[in-house]
Amino acid sequence: MAPRKIIIDTDPGQDDALAILLALASPELDVLGITCIAGNVPLPLTIRNAQLVCELAGRPDMKIFAGCERPMVRDLVTAEIVHGETGLDGPAWDEPTMGVQEMHAVDWLVTELMSAEDGEITLCPVGPITNVAMAMVREPRIIPKIGEIVTMGGGFFVGGNTTPVAEFNVYVDPHAADVMYRSGIPIVTMPLDVTHEALMSPEWIESMRAIGGDIGEKTAAMLSFYGRYDIARYGTRGGPLHDPATIAYLLQPELYGGKDVFVEVETHSELTMGMTVVDYWDRFEKEPNCRWISEVDSDGFFELIRERLANLAAAL
Ligand code: BDR
Ligand code: CA
Repeated sequence: MAPRKIIIDTDPGQDDALAILLALASPELDVLGITCIAGNVPLPLTIRNAQLVCELAGRPDMKIFAGCERPMVRDLVTAEIVHGETGLDGPAWDEPTMGVQEMHAVDWLVTELMSAEDGEITLCPVGPITNVAMAMVREPRIIPKIGEIVTMGGGFFVGGNTTPVAEFNVYVDPHAADVMYRSGIPIVTMPLDVTHEALMSPEWIESMRAIGGDIGEKTAAMLSFYGRYDIARYGTRGGPLHDPATIAYLLQPELYGGKDVFVEVETHSELTMGMTVVDYWDRFEKEPNCRWISEVDSDGFFELIRERLANLAAAL
């Protein structure tokens, strides 16, 4: 079967880095490009971090595009408290040397999608949704070209990680997430409800280090640094590894369980801004607009990542 064409829209971030590495390590996926967005850290750093990750994967040929510098309506909120000042704190990195495309990410999304067949391309937004929503607003004819969106964001049963009710990606640009959920495109959402069901253990991080080489050393250093924040906040042995859930779902959907539901994003109240209000029990009797994932085979998820990254390291 031909590999599935995907675009990763991202704000790396250590967990974004693992999502990119998992995708680039997987022959079932054809990553057409990586579009960067301001989020965990400001845009110049998310671009740099995407470059670093592609170089780590031995893919300096990957197309990286710079996207929006701020959310559609609100001011940018960043998360250095989680990811460190660079967004990719943990290992020692040399500065990247690979190039970045000249075209703006939103222009490229429109161009690439308009030249695709209907349903041909899958989008994986794992940061604030700004680039994706801006592309939809700019050229609505791209909507039928997108076969599926598999996104990390939101939370319902476990609450939020940025406010009591809002998850970071949706909180940063709730208006963009609102555009996405109203688009009519089939959406699979990986919320905190599922990412908090798969916590990294210290033993698993050591098994990543044991892969060896630059990939083993740098991923282990990234993940140890990144895990410390959630360990302290939640008092668990390990932190959740959010963004790779999207790629793992594309590779092995049988690892996951969920329900088709209607989701709406709060964009009015400052108190609950960015909350993903999930009509889990169909109280509104509205047509579902997403598959809300809440169950995962955690061991299978972590083994998939370890195995794919070990294969990638061996091939370099
Ligand atoms: C999401 O926010 C970011 O900090 C992570 O990269 C992930 O995409 C988790 O709430
Ligand atoms: Ca992210």
